Amino acid sequence: MPILAIETSCDDTCAAVLEGGRILSNVISSQGIHEQFGGVVPEVASRHHLELTGPVINQAMSEAEVAIADLEAIAVTAGPGLIGALLVGLSTAKAMALPGRIPLIPTDHLQGHVAANFLESDPVEPPFLCLIASGGHTILAGVRDHQGFETLGQTLDDAAGEAIDKAARLLGLGYPGGPALERLARDGDLDAFSFPVAMSRDPGLDFSFSGLKTALVYLCRDMGESAVSERRADLAAGFQHAVVDQLVSRVRRALDRDDWPLLALGGGVAANGPLRDAVAALCDERGIPLKLVPKELCTDNAAMIGSAARYAEKIPFPEYAGFDAFARGAGR
Ligand code: KG4
Ligand code: ZN
Repeated sequence: MPILAIETSCDDTCAAVLEGGRILSNVISSQGIHEQFGGVVPEVASRHHLELTGPVINQAMSEAEVAIADLEAIAVTAGPGLIGALLVGLSTAKAMALPGRIPLIPTDHLQGHVAANFLESDPVEPPFLCLIASGGHTILAGVRDHQGFETLGQTLDDAAGEAIDKAARLLGLGYPGGPALERLARDGDLDAFSFPVAMSRDPGLDFSFSGLKTALVYLCRDMGESAVSERRADLAAGFQHAVVDQLVSRVRRALDRDDWPLLALGGGVAANGPLRDAVAALCDERGIPLKLVPKELCTDNAAMIGSAARYAEKIPFPEYAGFDAFARGAGR
């Protein structure tokens, strides 16, 4: 029987219907509204989720040709994320599940990014090393089963996507910055500017991106507005290269430490072309396979939540009625 999955942890309103690991529908409505503010405004995101969840879920159900009565369970992101945004998805899921006594599967968003790699048509099996890089998190995950992962390293300050979005904003690009920065960087010379190498004396698996962002802020200030606008492509290329370089260096160290048989990526930054190319080269060099999900399954979506839910605890009616969302860390 199919499951419906709902994801509203940030600014994308998402619903998907899955049958096992097969995606029957996967609807994503990105709230373009945040561009004018240069980033996601939590309260605005919650209000838009309220307006969009109904139509997005209806579209996912009708594309999949599934009715509520057909559902085996409803999966929903319980956290981490923006608490107001999460509550809209969770309340919607409960409201849909309770009348028909349908079980609920509260799901972890980060596990969702890992579980995008379990979807058909080309699912991978643990164990594998997974780099999760998104707007809210940067984690090197040791994945040994379908249910969870061990955090081998993580960012000590900004997430990779957050740093990219801030850099994009400095260079006058819209939100989300990643795709726009990647496009701009194509015309730039990545060696034109040198950016600091973070934590160069620390051989660990943690990340730090705030120094890169500060370096760009000072560089732009010293260059002045007109020089910055002339050299935007070079600045974008150099900054993107520094982020990718750091991500890949930690993956390289993790592969040095343990014998991982496969590398996978997850999270919005995993849609980045130069990052995908760099990890492909690394895996080639190491002779291990690389799993790259399609770009639309890297950024937030509900299919990945439905995928994680297959391996998560199914909570029977009516035990989930008082279940709450969580903004940070692991739930429950
Ligand atoms: O996973 P995601 O959709 O949402 C979170 O869970 O945060 O990730 C969003 C992040 C944003 O920072 C966005 O700029 C970044 O992923 N991103 C990219 C690309 N596409 C999205 N970063 C670099 N290159 C891209 N092509
Ligand atoms: Zn995400």
